Amino acid sequence: MSENDLTNAIPIEILKSRLKEIALFSSASYVLQWDQEVHMPKKAVEYRAKTLSELSALIHQKYLALDRDKLLTLLKENLEKGKYADDEEALILETWRNYEQRTKLPEAHVRELSELTSNAQHHWAEARKQSDFSLFLPWLEKMIFLQKKTAKYLGYKKSPYDALLDVNEPGMTADKASKILNDVKDFLIPFLLKIKKSKIKVDAKKTKGEFPILNQIGFNLFVAKKIGYDLEAGKIDSSTHPFTITFHQTDVRFTTRFKENDALYALGSTIHETGHALYEQGLTEEDFGTPLGEAISLGIHESQSRMWENNIGKSLDFWKYFYPKLQKEFPKPFKKLPMTEFYKIVNKVTPSFIRTEADEVTYNLHIIMRFEIEKELMEGTLEAKNAPKVWNQKMQKYLGVKVPSDRLGILQDVHWSGGLFGYFPTYSFGNLYAAQFYAAMLKDIPDLAKRFARGEFLTAREWLRNKIHVHGKRYTADELVLEVTGESLNSKYFQEYLIAKYSKIYNLK
Ligand code: CO
Repeated sequence: MSENDLTNAIPIEILKSRLKEIALFSSASYVLQWDQEVHMPKKAVEYRAKTLSELSALIHQKYLALDRDKLLTLLKENLEKGKYADDEEALILETWRNYEQRTKLPEAHVRELSELTSNAQHHWAEARKQSDFSLFLPWLEKMIFLQKKTAKYLGYKKSPYDALLDVNEPGMTADKASKILNDVKDFLIPFLLKIKKSKIKVDAKKTKGEFPILNQIGFNLFVAKKIGYDLEAGKIDSSTHPFTITFHQTDVRFTTRFKENDALYALGSTIHETGHALYEQGLTEEDFGTPLGEAISLGIHESQSRMWENNIGKSLDFWKYFYPKLQKEFPKPFKKLPMTEFYKIVNKVTPSFIRTEADEVTYNLHIIMRFEIEKELMEGTLEAKNAPKVWNQKMQKYLGVKVPSDRLGILQDVHWSGGLFGYFPTYSFGNLYAAQFYAAMLKDIPDLAKRFARGEFLTAREWLRNKIHVHGKRYTADELVLEVTGESLNSKYFQEYLIAKYSKIYNLK
């Protein structure tokens, strides 16, 4: 395209059509990724990796080509002259941001990082198997070195950790995150001690039994559908690690996982992923491929899954509707288990050394210690070789548990070997956003609990859709939370939510 074309056609329309073309290629690569996790035969691993890497190179080239004829530059100049407002402004700024992130990292660095990642993950898996951190240490050190380089390329004002956080939660900084997460920590540690001292004891074994997978699949489908997931624009399968993936607003799929002896295991994952999927199904179809049709950030995404999984999915009113149905589907053991007791089991607080099994009270402490450690690793105030010692000390101090081994300690999560630094905190932001949004929703719909109890969940889905989903990236995370709740992200609502709920369950004074 020549300069002349740019001045004659409407540049913003050209940008949209280029972005949509890229999105179609991305969509094809997502289908292949989904297939890889769900259906692909074992022997196809290498061939699929080649296909995906070829596609991703193609997409990258197309992205770089966005500005080859200075289309993006022109749009940005026009924007600075005040030619665009609102939607168009968000579209240009977000595209520019993505474009810059792609161009700031030299190709050689990206290749080095991707090679290191596959090696590091392999060595991490081996180290975890043998429960020996020293096998992973040299790879972690290389990873930290390269991540610091990434931060330098991306640019930051104060801490290299700022640059990495900003990739996952745009606008977030290490300082802001520290302030918010310290508040949570100062609240949670004494709160957990109170729960530990409570005389109320909950026996989680009472919900265990024999649950044929086929029956579980049926029940999980029923729940996802009931809370608003559109099965004509989606599909549920099973995989080892549950995930949600979007090809288009009309094809948002997710996976869950099953345990034969525990019906609640799959339900938790299903409701969580349904929350993610509802967000994706709620994005506007006409904005497909552009930032206006994309979720805001990992933290906001996680707020949607966490709200359905915890604030709603572990509430008494949710189960007032679903428990009789669960009892009917699985009379053993639920028929003889009163709902009030079941509710306590669903919400049982158990400090443990495994993050993915953590309850609502202890979960954020797992995240906070990871945040503190990775921030120090990036800022150079902690050496990787000392990380396990610090890990175990923090587990003791925050959760009161003794880590039995590296495997169940510092080696439990895949993230660092996968090059994901500045990712963990988004899980906690998700919990805090969820509580803050949920409080706002309750204010708007005072009889929400009663609606849940009679099986009416679409009111909540519609509220989330109108307040959050349809906007795509028209707002930043901070603007959105301010718009919807009247405040910036803080932990007040999360604290109030936990106090109200767990004081009742554990009879706290
Ligand atoms: Co999630």
